[in-house]
Amino acid sequence: MNHTHWESDREFAHRMDAADELRRFRDAFEIRDSNLIYMDGNSLGRLPKRTRDVLERVVEDEWGGDLIRGWGSGWYDAPQRIGAKVAQILGARPHEVIISDSTSVNLFKLVVAALRARPDRRQIVSDELNFPTDLYIVQGAVDLLDGGHVLSLVSSRDGIATDQQAVLDAIDETTALVALSHPTFKSAYLYDVPAITERAHSTGALVLWDFSHAVGAVGLKLNEWDVDLAVGCTYKFLNGGPGSPAFLYVREDLHSELLSPIWGWWGHRAPFAFDLDYEPAADLTRFLAGSPPCLSLLAIEPAIELTLEAGIERIRKKSVGLTSYLIALADVLLAPLGFELGSPRDPARRGSHVSVRHAEGYRITRALIEEMDVIPDFREPDNIRIGVAPLYTSYAEVWETVDRIRRVVEAERYRAYSAVRQTIT
Ligand SMILES: Cc1ncc(COP(=O)(O)O)c(C=O)c1O
Repeated sequence: MNHTHWESDREFAHRMDAADELRRFRDAFEIRDSNLIYMDGNSLGRLPKRTRDVLERVVEDEWGGDLIRGWGSGWYDAPQRIGAKVAQILGARPHEVIISDSTSVNLFKLVVAALRARPDRRQIVSDELNFPTDLYIVQGAVDLLDGGHVLSLVSSRDGIATDQQAVLDAIDETTALVALSHPTFKSAYLYDVPAITERAHSTGALVLWDFSHAVGAVGLKLNEWDVDLAVGCTYKFLNGGPGSPAFLYVREDLHSELLSPIWGWWGHRAPFAFDLDYEPAADLTRFLAGSPPCLSLLAIEPAIELTLEAGIERIRKKSVGLTSYLIALADVLLAPLGFELGSPRDPARRGSHVSVRHAEGYRITRALIEEMDVIPDFREPDNIRIGVAPLYTSYAEVWETVDRIRRVVEAERYRAYSAVRQTIT
């Protein structure tokens, strides 16, 4: 969407919605209250209507009727079958993706596997914008392996982006693994994945990308970019449901080289041989651990199909349109009220959410949720994070969000709320 001119009146948003080629997908989601503006699809996507039907079928017919036979009619191979569908969204080969466990657990499996595959190297490169679980998992792997690994974090001057050259420079012949998120969770900063991956490969390091905030919103080309390893959530822009199992990707040629540190029976070469000794599967299923949570797993499938139907190019195009529009409105309506942009201005460097920063960001977020029917989320220290989900977010909702933020601040409605953080922000 190459708009150079965004207009700040509400009618402009309606004209954009009328011309939106993804408009019909909004009806595919459960939307009970049209006044409630949901801007947190980057944390938990909305419920697709067809997911309810699938869950009903799985519970009623399969669990209720088929009982244990369900494993033979669609449950057992679901990690690979649904993984192959996610692979289409990732630009990967079908057998390079499985669905299993949580993103955190998949990170653990891949971090340990990667460090063991580079036994003479001690450095792990990441950045201080990375999601905490990614850093904790690396720290835990370092502690577990007890091999003197060092985690080097590239810093960020503005909390929005890192200097990409600094990341490239941090990678050298001592680097075992580069582990980064694309985009980053607070600012939605997008890396140049091919450039970093290429630099890592030129030194012999492996690269592990966390695509949690990209999958289903930002175009990814894992094969073309020669990505080694990747993980990501399915409950954000893929709309898989709360806590739905994550995806795990390993490039084909690394399947036999890398070993999961969790030697569960689902990763065994022949689980139903019930051998006494572990022998990993030859393919990616070696990264499965144990029985998957079938209800959550099967609920992902109809949601992913919606993304495939819409097509990731069209989704990305609308995402760029929505975030650009949001920034244009924020420049006009929110900057005079003390807001600063907490995300990259360049759409090529920005994912599908926009953070607007304000000293009273936390209390403003509380007021939005409690009395303005807008649900964004808050990320320390001052980011109001506004996620746009192209399958169901409209331009009118973007306009309303900015307008309601403006009204909260102009009337100082946030003053009624405590700055003491609630458990979940
Ligand atoms: C970038 C990123 N990675 C990992 C996670 C955590 O994943 P999980 O809690 O499913 O393990 C999140 C959660 O929001 C995230 O944003």
